[in-house]
Amino acid sequence: MKQVMQAEKLDQENRLKERMSLIRHKIIVMSGKGGVGKTSVAVNLSYAFATSGKKVGLLDTDLHGPNVAKMLGVEKESLGGSTDGIDPVRVLSELKVVSLAFVAQNPDVPIIWRGPMKANAIKQLLGEVNWGTLDYLVVDSPPGTGDEPLSVCQLIPNVSGAVIVTTPQDVSILDARKTVMFARQLNIPVIGIIENMSGFVCPHCRQETAIFKKGGGEKAAQDLGVPFLGRIPFDPELVELADRGVPFISSGKDTPSTRAFMQVQKAIEEFLAISK
Ligand SMILES: Nc1ncnc2c1ncn2[C@@H]1O[C@H](COP(=O)(O)OP(=O)(O)OP(=O)(O)O)[C@@H](O)[C@H]1O
Ligand SMILES: [Mg+2]
Repeated sequence: MKQVMQAEKLDQENRLKERMSLIRHKIIVMSGKGGVGKTSVAVNLSYAFATSGKKVGLLDTDLHGPNVAKMLGVEKESLGGSTDGIDPVRVLSELKVVSLAFVAQNPDVPIIWRGPMKANAIKQLLGEVNWGTLDYLVVDSPPGTGDEPLSVCQLIPNVSGAVIVTTPQDVSILDARKTVMFARQLNIPVIGIIENMSGFVCPHCRQETAIFKKGGGEKAAQDLGVPFLGRIPFDPELVELADRGVPFISSGKDTPSTRAFMQVQKAIEEFLAISK
């Protein structure tokens, strides 16, 4: 019995390695603090990559509060599957998404799991999903440095790097610094820090207000010697679109936040091109 279980475990590990070997860049989006914009970044980055002709997978590892499906307007979809594995939900022809939201029977009922169960769920999401050949796998994480990002960083061979999202105020920056240390301890390259919700330009008077202060993310990046990827301003339209399940980058509008986001995307692509 023990031998059968060991053989099964080995099989599962081999499948995971094989599936991950078909993916060129694996990016994990993290933050120290909650609610700073990780899911918004993960969703829009994946969408932007997919509409620029790349093959993209987006994995939601926020097991307790999976928001990716809602932000892409596909929360009513469910995963397919066969003996070959789990089939992701397709949002665009080249954007495949997997989230526990597609499995949950009732979105209002919380999932209550201890650490080992979470690690096991993530192992399955990485190893049993038919991701196919991808240019990018973007992994959205819950806040902090707990079981979920730890499992992802330990299970995926050769993670390309971590994108760390923060808001500009000290309480968030302090936690972002811890996230950089976490990545370093696990030998994950830090692609860089994004300062989100950085300033708000009033659409009426054009005056800018630094709601959560400004510049903290850039200063932390300088202090820690990691790239600064850019500053995304606060934009109420971003909230509106996210609530309607529309990635704000898809609007095609030329606004300070879409421009800022495109700059962040370019900085990430440049990092990955050099690190290859
Ligand atoms: N630049 C921005 N301007 C305005 N609203 C934003 C911006 N970035 C994110 N938001 C909004 O802030 C809220 C939190 O964002 P999001 O869910 O992406 O954060 P998160 O870090 O993933 O949160 P959690 O830690 O709970 O997973 C969402 O309603 C989102 O639409
Ligand atoms: Mg989130």
